[in-house]
Amino acid sequence: MTNFEELSDWLRGWAGVDASRRDIADTVLALADVGREISALVAAGPLAGDQSGIVGENSDGDLQKLLDLASHRDVLAALANAPVAHVGSEEAPEPVTLNSGAPLAVAVDPLDGSSNIGVNLPMGTIFSILPALAAGAEASFRQTGRNQLAAGFLVYGPMTELALTVGSGTHVFVLDRRDETFRLVNGAASIPHATDEFSINASNYRHWNEALRAYIDDCLAGDEGVRTKNFNMRWYGSLVAEASRILTRGGVFLYPADQRHGYGDGRLRLVYEANPIAFLVEQAGGAASCGSGAILDQVPDDLHQRVPLIFGAWEEVERIERYLNDPHSMGDHAPLFGRRGLFRA
Ligand code: F6P
Ligand code: MN
Repeated sequence: MTNFEELSDWLRGWAGVDASRRDIADTVLALADVGREISALVAAGPLAGDQSGIVGENSDGDLQKLLDLASHRDVLAALANAPVAHVGSEEAPEPVTLNSGAPLAVAVDPLDGSSNIGVNLPMGTIFSILPALAAGAEASFRQTGRNQLAAGFLVYGPMTELALTVGSGTHVFVLDRRDETFRLVNGAASIPHATDEFSINASNYRHWNEALRAYIDDCLAGDEGVRTKNFNMRWYGSLVAEASRILTRGGVFLYPADQRHGYGDGRLRLVYEANPIAFLVEQAGGAASCGSGAILDQVPDDLHQRVPLIFGAWEEVERIERYLNDPHSMGDHAPLFGRRGLFRA
């Protein structure tokens, strides 16, 4: 395994003598270090105490479990020693200022997929590194995803994995348990343009609009329908785990808007979930959309704002955008032929 380059060496090589890159490298290393600690806690399960105890509710109404808050505290402690001015976390209503005057701002979902706490399924930590703006913490987190300097996620699954982009491709590292270092296993993750595997929580079918139902209906019809090929479906209930799979073998993921109360913009958060995933996915040759435009072009007006998220194989993402916005573009096989006018929720 010694042939696999260590994360710290890789980052040092990338940063060279560039001071701004060194700041980013130090911040990524701090996040990788804390990820290793969270990974150990996740792996200990009940041996580390009752991690699933409910201890509160976050600003979005999600129940906070003990492990959510432990991860949040560990991330803040780790970033206090990095060149980070502000942290915007899913688990805190307002941004936290750590080192005023420092060059970077970090948006983070400390424990994504935490409904999987206690059931031995993957969870992770998602992060987005932005320039800290002189205008302050809130303004720093209102930048579009195009301003991200780096982004990544850790997955605590059978492998503890770090997917990272600094804007020149997407790189995947795996934690080597023998010496507790992250090692590069894929220097250029690449998402195939086409796919026959989709990810969606299908229990929400009745809450979707007509266009989205038509898209999924056409996938389910397989080789007997307009797609003329069979599809497979996967849903882990863990965004990082789905993203990891899609970076590895392709696919498309959807968490759309639906008609449930509070789901008019889907479920996932733009600043610390969709933006970092979109940056990684674009850098791997895929696409990430809110249904009517690229995720990375959306302007956040709040740290915690939600956004519909569709990402993965770019041909499939484009097709879904066509279903949602322009049923006629489907030609003779227009899935909404005869249903025009019903396609908005
Ligand atoms: O962070 C939100 C999250 O846990 C994601 O990791 C996951 O994709 C999604 O929620 C699952 O949502 P649902 O339980 O509605 O399927
Ligand atoms: Mn999350």
